[in-house]
Amino acid sequence: MLDIAPAATAPEITVRPSTEADVPEMLAIYTHHVQHGLGEFDLEPLHPDDIKRRRKNMLKRRLPHLVAERGGAVVGYAYAVPFRKRPAYRYVVKNSIYVHHEVLHAGVGRKLLAALIDACAAVGFRQMIAYIEAGNEPSISLHESFGFDRVGVLKSVGYKFGRWTDSVMLQRPLGEGDTTAPRLGEGSSEMPEL
Ligand SMILES: CC(C)(COP(=O)(O)OP(=O)(O)OC[C@H]1O[C@@H](n2cnc3c(N)ncnc32)[C@H](O)[C@@H]1OP(=O)(O)O)[C@@H](O)C(=O)NCCC(=O)NCCS
Repeated sequence: MLDIAPAATAPEITVRPSTEADVPEMLAIYTHHVQHGLGEFDLEPLHPDDIKRRRKNMLKRRLPHLVAERGGAVVGYAYAVPFRKRPAYRYVVKNSIYVHHEVLHAGVGRKLLAALIDACAAVGFRQMIAYIEAGNEPSISLHESFGFDRVGVLKSVGYKFGRWTDSVMLQRPLGEGDTTAPRLGEGSSEMPEL
């Protein structure tokens, strides 16, 4: 159970860069969704070291890794990874957002996605992609409300809980998008092993 104030008196949601101390809370959030949702491609809970390693790899490459806090508790997290490893893709990121199952639809995802978009644009990434399980209306609706367009559907690419799942691909430009050429130092200089 999360030890935070009820929604009516809920303190403000704040977003900040994650720290290694946040790993247990991020892991607990992720584990719940892995065990109950179709949207996560992991089938088993991760080990804390997996999140620690992934987080460090992302930070080395200037990829944002954020948490949302409410009343002193971590209630969600969000991060970006390279869309693909080959260098021509270095201005494109893929995003992930997870909100604690006890505080869904309370504005946490909206705060996290806004901050993630700003942080990625500030580093010079130009496009953000989201792959979302086709039945995940909350996530599709959240992304569409931030100007993401549906650009494709990948049929039957996941198999979880005894059924095939489709992924919807959504995309949104960041910053100047494709209206200007990238400047020196923008985007990801190196493609990490994640
Ligand atoms: C998707 C997710 C991140 C949304 O976060 P959230 O904190 O619940 O969302 P918010 O409260 O900020 O809501 C923002 C918008 O998202 C959409 N949304 C959120 N919950 C919704 C729901 N139950 N039904 C429909 N739309 C919903 C709405 O557009 C909402 O705007 P509104 O408040 O004006 O209706 C959250 O549901 C989650 O963590 N789900 C499980 C993990 C997951 O699927 N992650 C995304 C993988 S791609």
